[in-house]
Amino acid sequence: FNVPVPVNEPVKEYRPGSPEREALKIALAEFRSQETDIPMYIGGEEVRTDRRLRIAPPHDHQHTLGYFYEGEAKHVQKAIDAALTAKEAWANLPWEHRAAIFLKAAELIAGPYRARINAATMLGQSKNAFQAEIDSACELIDFLRFNVHYATDIYKQQPGSSPGVWNRLEYRPLEGFVFALTPFNFTAIAGNLPTSAALMGNTVIWKPAYTQVLSAKVIMEVLIEAGLPAGVINLIYVDGPVAGEVIFSHPDFAGIHFTGSTGVFQQIWGTIGANIHKYKTYPRIVGETGGKDFVMVHESADVDEVATGLVRGAFEYQGQKCSAASRAYIPSTLWPAVEAKMKKFLSEIKMGVTEDFSNFINAVIDERAFNKITAYIEEAKQTDKVRVVAGGNYGGSKGYFIEPTVLQVEDPAYRTMCEEIFGPVLSIYVYEPSEFDNVLKVVNTTSPYALTGSIFSKDRYVIEQAAKALENAAGNFYINDKPTGAVVGQQPFGGARASGTNDKAGSALNLYRWLSARTIKETF
Ligand code: SER
Repeated sequence: FNVPVPVNEPVKEYRPGSPEREALKIALAEFRSQETDIPMYIGGEEVRTDRRLRIAPPHDHQHTLGYFYEGEAKHVQKAIDAALTAKEAWANLPWEHRAAIFLKAAELIAGPYRARINAATMLGQSKNAFQAEIDSACELIDFLRFNVHYATDIYKQQPGSSPGVWNRLEYRPLEGFVFALTPFNFTAIAGNLPTSAALMGNTVIWKPAYTQVLSAKVIMEVLIEAGLPAGVINLIYVDGPVAGEVIFSHPDFAGIHFTGSTGVFQQIWGTIGANIHKYKTYPRIVGETGGKDFVMVHESADVDEVATGLVRGAFEYQGQKCSAASRAYIPSTLWPAVEAKMKKFLSEIKMGVTEDFSNFINAVIDERAFNKITAYIEEAKQTDKVRVVAGGNYGGSKGYFIEPTVLQVEDPAYRTMCEEIFGPVLSIYVYEPSEFDNVLKVVNTTSPYALTGSIFSKDRYVIEQAAKALENAAGNFYINDKPTGAVVGQQPFGGARASGTNDKAGSALNLYRWLSARTIKETF
């Protein structure tokens, strides 16, 4: 059978007085005026424990948004048992019935849950309305619809046969359960990691970041209303090492779908390696990790395009995107004009709470992130060879606010050009145009990551040269555009080197990883 070819969910604009803005304001007020109770969801049951942890908006950390319940090792075990119990019926459910559940979830988010999931993302993760809309509404809807479409294509692919012989591929899920470990910075990614594995017939333990539990709860509400059977996705809040201890030593552990830091992913990989003899099958390890995403500018580039790309690429969602532009290389011939334009844009940008729709910049996610990012800024201020071009101020008393900060460095290997900061800090190296070829080598070698990157140029030979020189430096490469904002169904997303296993989210390449096919040869 065929599923309808999906189109990307249109982005709503939330103009003053629009019905979508009014609905969003009501949903925000609702979350503001109550303390939301956020249980774990294990085997179709809501589970509460004695350890009730508070959540607050990062931009207003004195305000209590709600409480979630932290579990222990026994809850992880309970979730694994629930996943294994649910597995057979789920794996055997005809494809169109599994697909229908996720297509219905997409419809629920597009309609009745849109305001609620965006409000949860705005308050819980400090995203403005636009950033929430492109994430928790559009991207999540797109993941759900496009994954069904890609999976349908996968299931159709069959090997050839010969006279008297019928060969077929039986697309089975993995044997065991899948662990989805998800980040705070995209509600869509948090939703995609468990649902893509589940779509392919797996049952899942889902552990979100503690800073994303509010929108995770809304995703779970949607999945339950869409008809997801009990035990297919089990949502738990358990300390990482405690969960890891149970999961990575379990014989039925069959795969991990991860987005988060490079350090944690490498540690997990090591643990899985150390435990490899315990498992029934080799676990699938799929991860998207850090980035140090570059913007390479040639002197033929358009100044307005560069300045807009840098401000949006570096500072939307406070730079907390693994794809964020965080290092740029600009020729000295363009730099004065680019600097002036960026400063003009930055002077027009407002910073503050997400409920005020005119704020472009909101807060960074928590105190730990605030301290880490501001330490980089302080060190840069005290370094002779770094100039603070813009921003550099911050304050954490009401919320974790950091101004969009632009640093100009003399040394292209200075640490803010190499290390992932995951905040609103953009480092710029200004080069002489004659150095262009050499700077391409610097871009390729100064950071261990290879997630996203951009080249800005109007010269086709230069674009070709950069694309070739940087072929392994970015899994997503943008020509004359910012390196953020990959759209599902249009730019499959992921990087290699220290940025991950490059199993492109939002494409068939990712879905294949959740299958363990059986080849059947039947002779007549
Ligand atoms: N997919 C996001 C982007 O492209 C990052 O995870 O910005």
